[in-house]
Amino acid sequence: MKKISAPFFLLFSLAFFFAHPLFSQKTSVKEIDRRVEELLAKMTLDEKIGQLNQVPGDISTGTDVAKDDLLSQIKAGKIGSVLSHTNFDNKIVMQRAAVGTRLGIPLIFGFDVIHGYKTIFPIPLAQAASWDMAMIENIERIAAEEAGADGQNWAFAPMVDIARDPRWGRVMEGAGEDPFLGSRVAEARVRGFQGDDLGKNTTLATCVKHYAGYGFAEGGRDYNTVDMSEQRLREIVLPPFQAAAKAGSATFMNAFNTLNGVPASMSKHLVTDILRNEWGWKGLVVSDWNSFGETIVHGAASDDADASAKCLSAGSDMDMAGGTFLRGLKKALESGRVTQAQIDNAVRRVLRLKFMLGLFDDPFRYLDPKRREATLEKPEYRLAAREAAAKSMVLLKNDGGILPLTPESPFKNITIIGPYADSRDHKDYMSFWTLGIGNPDYDTTKIVTPAMSLKSTLEEMGFQVTVTEICLDAACNEKDLSVAMKATTSSDLVIVCVGERGIDCGESRSISDISLKGNQETLLRIAARGNKPTLMVLFNSRPLVFPWADENVQSILVAWQSGYETGNALADVVTGKVNPSGKLPITFPRSVGQVPLYYNHLNTGRPQSQMGQMWTSGYLDAPSTPAYPFGYGLSYTTFSYSNLTVSKSQPKMGETVEVSVNVTNRGNVAGEEVVQLYIHDVAADIARPVKELKGFEKIKLNPAESRTVTFKLTPEELSYWNADLKFKADPGKFKVFVGGNSRDVKEAEFELMP
Ligand code: GLC
Repeated sequence: MKKISAPFFLLFSLAFFFAHPLFSQKTSVKEIDRRVEELLAKMTLDEKIGQLNQVPGDISTGTDVAKDDLLSQIKAGKIGSVLSHTNFDNKIVMQRAAVGTRLGIPLIFGFDVIHGYKTIFPIPLAQAASWDMAMIENIERIAAEEAGADGQNWAFAPMVDIARDPRWGRVMEGAGEDPFLGSRVAEARVRGFQGDDLGKNTTLATCVKHYAGYGFAEGGRDYNTVDMSEQRLREIVLPPFQAAAKAGSATFMNAFNTLNGVPASMSKHLVTDILRNEWGWKGLVVSDWNSFGETIVHGAASDDADASAKCLSAGSDMDMAGGTFLRGLKKALESGRVTQAQIDNAVRRVLRLKFMLGLFDDPFRYLDPKRREATLEKPEYRLAAREAAAKSMVLLKNDGGILPLTPESPFKNITIIGPYADSRDHKDYMSFWTLGIGNPDYDTTKIVTPAMSLKSTLEEMGFQVTVTEICLDAACNEKDLSVAMKATTSSDLVIVCVGERGIDCGESRSISDISLKGNQETLLRIAARGNKPTLMVLFNSRPLVFPWADENVQSILVAWQSGYETGNALADVVTGKVNPSGKLPITFPRSVGQVPLYYNHLNTGRPQSQMGQMWTSGYLDAPSTPAYPFGYGLSYTTFSYSNLTVSKSQPKMGETVEVSVNVTNRGNVAGEEVVQLYIHDVAADIARPVKELKGFEKIKLNPAESRTVTFKLTPEELSYWNADLKFKADPGKFKVFVGGNSRDVKEAEFELMP
């Protein structure tokens, strides 16, 4: 057989590589804009309005797209995008219909890829507790590979809403209460999803949501009114949005709520003044589910034409699941309330996104059955899910060093008990966002429960382990409690798995009472009676309150809703294979009566130093401090902080200040510590928070190992939005704090000179 020459082989390989769909020729923006204008010039008004219309797919309709009227609407050019659709074959049917229209404009498929796609990771709030940006970025890279292989092009993520109210069901979707941490997480998520080229079928366009202020709904009630100063909006709410915009997020999503009386979808101030003009962001803004139509319900628009005019004029482009544009935009144009140019601008942003995703070059780039088969639920994805879950868990208490459980531990008989010891119901350990993915009736064996992994792991170490699953749906009845009494009598360690169901958290799932439901605390009292060594494992999506356990249970581990690998990750942490390193991204209050309670609060003119102190800001009947503060989490080792130094005692305005600290592992096992840097602007032109997170670094130290961690405080980090809404720093004294949480810190100071 004739041998192929090396040069020819090399040439052939390069040609093959560059032609392969995975390597998309990154079309230049200029070329894309040229092609957009060329196409736009050919489009009719109806075709343009059709591109601004996004319609829900089979999860919401539950019908087979090939039969229902969705397909006929696509063929009629009335649909530009389909969301929440899981049937791969039907996507091919729909895409064929779209490219078969007069101008052959392909569909874009959007989906809520919130914490994994087919391989389910811990909820986003749990991931934030890892403070590990590389891990978070990798999670989104994996999610994009799976979703992109399953025909999705556009992730309705990251959700970057800052939240301080655990009553709000969607606190589980964000990164907690702090804008600095929230901004770093937002950047990591955008990088993970979008990678370096949206044209690759292993990357997805992101959609930063919900713009803006959604997490500050009054009473923690979802969709409720949001009212705040421009100063708070800019200081607390907007930074993660701006960070995501700077990171290159391709799209934004409007919020449902009114902000200072104006529905976010029609807020020119948010969408045009800040997002497009001040930040210079040029992407596509999609409504939240019918949020254009809801402007009428809010009472801020009179009908579809009015709602269409106000939302489009504000700078919002695409109508999700509302049909408001389809019914009202032409009327708005005919009545002069919008211009053709405004419609064209919105259509340009839709077409540009589709070109950037490579959908015009190859509408079936994300619809390759062989690639789907080879990509979904790869074993390495589950390994990543296991590692992420373990790194997200937060150890709140470990009195007496119950954990880690090793063959040397002074226990023989262990009982694993409670509603979440061995739940085979897919509603647990997951979230309401994972119910729609794949087949809603789920294969629950995909979820590793605590019992499935912890029992065998502990037995291999020589422990006698019994599992008692009681209190189904977190409701412990009398029978359950008597079973618990018997089951725990002979054990010398009890692991109680309590918390809340994942399905009870998320959108439209706000609650007024964040205590452990259904007699779970009674179950804890039974388990820990007579000071029996007890580990409480909390499966939660938000901060919950458990005052009796705080006082009486020796070990408390927050396991969150941790997805598929819950049980394996728990076993890794409980046995010390993984030393817990999670830190709370949100304050855990002592009671719901304290809410909102957050670390970066103002000092007030009368700060309270102890409960009941008269004429100060606090309560007569409770402390005003949290059960567990922002940034808090324990390890199986201890870390000491020393030699906190500031590079300049009197830096000049505009100079960067370096803050260094020495961290030492004082224990006998290796561990990871999240070193946190906070500042307090002691005397500014307005009152400033008593602490503001301005840096963090997660480091791993072996026993007795020390490391010096250095942070840079740039002029930006020392600046704030003042009363005149100018972003600037004031000369004067600054305190700096460094530690392993926002409460237990070393302190230093410097004076910023004019
Ligand atoms: C929902 C959510 C939003 C989601 C969208 C599509 O109502 O508010 O976060 O992306 O609709 O499911």
